[in-house]
Amino acid sequence: MVSVEKDISVESLLNQPAVTVTNLSKSFKGIPALQQVDFAVRNGEMVALVGASGSGKSTLLRTINGLQMADSGTVKIFDTPLQSDSKLHSKARQLRAQVGFIFQQFNLVSRLSVLENVLIGNLSRTPSVRSAFRLFTQAEKTRALAALDRVGILGQAYKRAALLSGGQQQRVAIARCLMQGAQIILADEPIASLDPESARRVMELLVDLNRDQGLTVITSLHQVQMVRFYCDRSIALRDGTVQFDGETTALGDEQLSNIYGAAAEELVQRGHAEMLTG
Ligand SMILES: Nc1ncnc2c1ncn2[C@@H]1O[C@H](COP(=O)(O)OP(=O)(O)OP(=O)(O)O)[C@@H](O)[C@H]1O
Ligand SMILES: [Mg+2]
Repeated sequence: MVSVEKDISVESLLNQPAVTVTNLSKSFKGIPALQQVDFAVRNGEMVALVGASGSGKSTLLRTINGLQMADSGTVKIFDTPLQSDSKLHSKARQLRAQVGFIFQQFNLVSRLSVLENVLIGNLSRTPSVRSAFRLFTQAEKTRALAALDRVGILGQAYKRAALLSGGQQQRVAIARCLMQGAQIILADEPIASLDPESARRVMELLVDLNRDQGLTVITSLHQVQMVRFYCDRSIALRDGTVQFDGETTALGDEQLSNIYGAAAEELVQRGHAEMLTG
């Protein structure tokens, strides 16, 4: 665990920055994907990351947990640098253990059981020989089963991951983050491949974990009505720059046109249609 021991009180912990991004820039072959991005997310916030396709959402999320190196700028997790000016900090591994990542396509090992998929979420803390042979202790199995219970799919523990529905697989991915001991969840379009009912359940699980366990959540979402319903704060990117950072209620149609350009009208209309059908 990375220390947050300076002044322990509920108030001080809530005001601690969980993720701080300073002057972050990244280009691919000379084309900027992130340009001097700055923001801070406090412990226990639930933040939507929005923007048109190619605006830099995935690049930003991947850079926050060090899957991707920025060209310049700093990412801090709990006030400790994870990467700075394209160098990983020596504490990066410990910091990354506190940051869970959820992908649109779930990224489970389909031939392994649900339980094994959750257990390997703990790999960064498990000696490599043991993990290679998938030898887990009873205590680890108990924790993994508790994580599956928390996400509501304990009954599927011994099934092969491939046999689960998309919504169930995404809940396994969330259980894996819990097993890992993540305090922060970064989710890249976690509901984009799900039917409306499964999407709603996954979002409600993330909201529960945020409210009950104080997990900090940053999630990219392309459905505006989901952003408005589930996330109090939004950060919007356009061409790799922050166009909006504030209360989601202030994200009106005019701001959406700024963020999405010509695609905005279609997006809002699609949102209304999904509300009616979903
Ligand atoms: N590995 C890569 N190699 C080259 N270019 C990349 C790479 N990853 C991202 N890019 C480019 O960086 C820009 C931002 O891409 P990114 O995937 O972060 O956008 P996004 O907002 O997540 O889009 P989407 O909504 O389609 O997922 C795009 O122009 C993309 O083509
Ligand atoms: Mg993306």
